[in-house]
Amino acid sequence: MNPANGAHAAQASLLADAGRYLAGGGLGLFQLPADLNLVVARGEGSRIWDLAGGEYIDYHLSSGPALLGHAHPDVGAAVQAQLPKGTTYYFLNEPEIALAKKIVDAVPCADEVHYTGSGTEATFYALRIARARTGRNKVMKFEGAWHGMHDYGLWGTVPSTPSDYPRAKPDSVGVPAQTGDTVLVSPFNDAAAAVAMIEKNAKDLAAVIVEPLQRVLLPEPGFLQAVRDATRRHGIVLIFDEIVTGFRIAWGGAQEKYGVLPDMATYGKAVSGGFPLACIAGTADAMSPLDARKRDRSTVVWATNTLNGNPVCAAAGVAALDVLKRPGVYDRLRAIGSRLRKGIEESGAKHGFDVQCPGEDAVWGVRFTKKKPLRNWMDLTTADKALGLKWGLELLRRGILNNPNEKFYISIQHTDADVDHTLGVVDEAFAALKK
Ligand SMILES: Cc1ncc(COP(=O)(O)O)c(C=O)c1O
Repeated sequence: MNPANGAHAAQASLLADAGRYLAGGGLGLFQLPADLNLVVARGEGSRIWDLAGGEYIDYHLSSGPALLGHAHPDVGAAVQAQLPKGTTYYFLNEPEIALAKKIVDAVPCADEVHYTGSGTEATFYALRIARARTGRNKVMKFEGAWHGMHDYGLWGTVPSTPSDYPRAKPDSVGVPAQTGDTVLVSPFNDAAAAVAMIEKNAKDLAAVIVEPLQRVLLPEPGFLQAVRDATRRHGIVLIFDEIVTGFRIAWGGAQEKYGVLPDMATYGKAVSGGFPLACIAGTADAMSPLDARKRDRSTVVWATNTLNGNPVCAAAGVAALDVLKRPGVYDRLRAIGSRLRKGIEESGAKHGFDVQCPGEDAVWGVRFTKKKPLRNWMDLTTADKALGLKWGLELLRRGILNNPNEKFYISIQHTDADVDHTLGVVDEAFAALKK
């Protein structure tokens, strides 16, 4: 048998097993169409290979964690060094303490860190800590913001019509309707509306949680500061969800880049070099409900999980942050990302499409819409998603790994040659779309 046919057959067989043995045939909401579905065999640098031998330039980066690219040697070496010493202890260990120190050093608002296993747990616990800190029950989020899969995050994340602010619809079935009584939703980038909602509900509000770069939407000047000022006036905990922006849009994340300090911030994805670890970082005051040394045990927030601060993940994180701290890293991410964004917009315009690439250079989206500027979730719903999907699949067919209508992530291992090649493919994809 031709080896290529054999490889295709092996991939097809595994895909059939995935369809049979994995719930829903995959890992969750993200699914490729059957004819383009793939099983990853390996990744290296900016590339991914599938089992059938297909090679892709990866702009999905595992939905963000692979900021250092795949199989970065420094992360690999740190993990290899840790593995023979054991993979989990529950008790304190050197890598987790070293990583906490580095995070506190990098994150402007942070005095201390609490580890979690996933970003979802980080935002979930951050909200619980805020309730404990304030003695209030309600939390406020912004329409279109993604804070993970827990019951308090899944309100007004992807509505197709405007929410009935401050009420929003649940995103997932199975979310208890009662949770919605405690989650207020406001439109992003509308400082007046956000401040009015905060003022009106101040006595009940424990926290405002915000993605400072909301998916691909830049915060307008003054928006984050207005939310900061209003929350501070009323003793409400301000949480920046930096699970995407942390260590990516700047070493100190969005709070450094936009110059506004929250009380707490959540980190995941890039913070641990592609290994499963996340955390909450915050001021000692905001984090105080976690401190059983200073409080009566009955007033301590429970946020303990078996694998928190896992030494393998923390060792990977220490190595990853050491790489990210090197001079020039963020300039390079910006240079690569901005060339690609500009090139896509130019190519789209050349082929007659209204296409734009909102976001920051290290993470941005491609949206087929005339509407400018894109300020909030409802603006994003003007984008032609069917066209976005078709275009993304044309790229995929030509070896550019992406999640259509979502985000492009840039790694420190994407090269100028990758951008040149990608822009050639982008041009072909727009041409194919026109047909
Ligand atoms: C901003 C933001 N917060 C929270 C999460 C949830 O993180 P996780 O998928 O690790 O649970 C995500 C995931 O994409 C995210 O983008």
